[in-house]
Amino acid sequence: MGRKFWVGGNWKMNGVKKEIDGIINFLQAGPISPDVEVVVGVPALYLEYVKNKLPCSVAASAQNAYKVPKGAFTGEISPAMIQDIGVCWVILGHSERRNVFGECDELVAEKVAHALESGLCVVACIGEKLEEREAGQTEAVVFRQMEAIACKICDWTNVVVAYEPVWAIGTGKTATPQQAQDVHRKLREWLCTNVSECVAETTRIVYGGSVTAANCKELAQEEDIDGFLVGGASLKPEFIQIINAKAC
Ligand code: PGA
Repeated sequence: MGRKFWVGGNWKMNGVKKEIDGIINFLQAGPISPDVEVVVGVPALYLEYVKNKLPCSVAASAQNAYKVPKGAFTGEISPAMIQDIGVCWVILGHSERRNVFGECDELVAEKVAHALESGLCVVACIGEKLEEREAGQTEAVVFRQMEAIACKICDWTNVVVAYEPVWAIGTGKTATPQQAQDVHRKLREWLCTNVSECVAETTRIVYGGSVTAANCKELAQEEDIDGFLVGGASLKPEFIQIINAKAC
């Protein structure tokens, strides 16, 4: 028992040094509850810069990585490179990677497998689109995405699953606590049936999609919501309130 609450900030393609310094300032000022694991997803170019300035209670994460250690893949970075600069996390399968850059379930799964084999911790993102939810396919879609990833994972210790309904990302349209809890519970049941009871009990399943200081506390009350992956609000001082959503 005792899944440690996990809050990630996904900066996406935002922030040049001046703005990044502002974010680092409010992260340094905190306060950050010791009961929360905090990770920020940084544009690759700034990973080392940010890593060296973050308070020790906050870890840096890459936002993507390719499925092999090195080679002729112009523009890509590998888990080996991320590790080489002392960064331990990578976000994979984010809806923008899937839907803007066309990453399929299989590629996401290969990336997850390689990142884990390389020793990184992975935030594996899944979530349905609006038309899929409206067609009653939410469960089928997230189970399909989980299945693709799960069949390539041997050890779940370093995996956080982020459930991010695509219709809630960057739209201001947060899932209600009940909507999020329903999917989180089903995902946990899926893990129990298809992986193991222990993995279902211990794996953090975090919610993402228009999380703000105003809605985080209510979401954090839900039994199967073990934290958040936060986009827009992670660039602002209110991120501190989101980090502490469960703690105070
Ligand atoms: P949002 O983004 O909080 O801006 O909706 C969440 C995400 O994409 O991870």
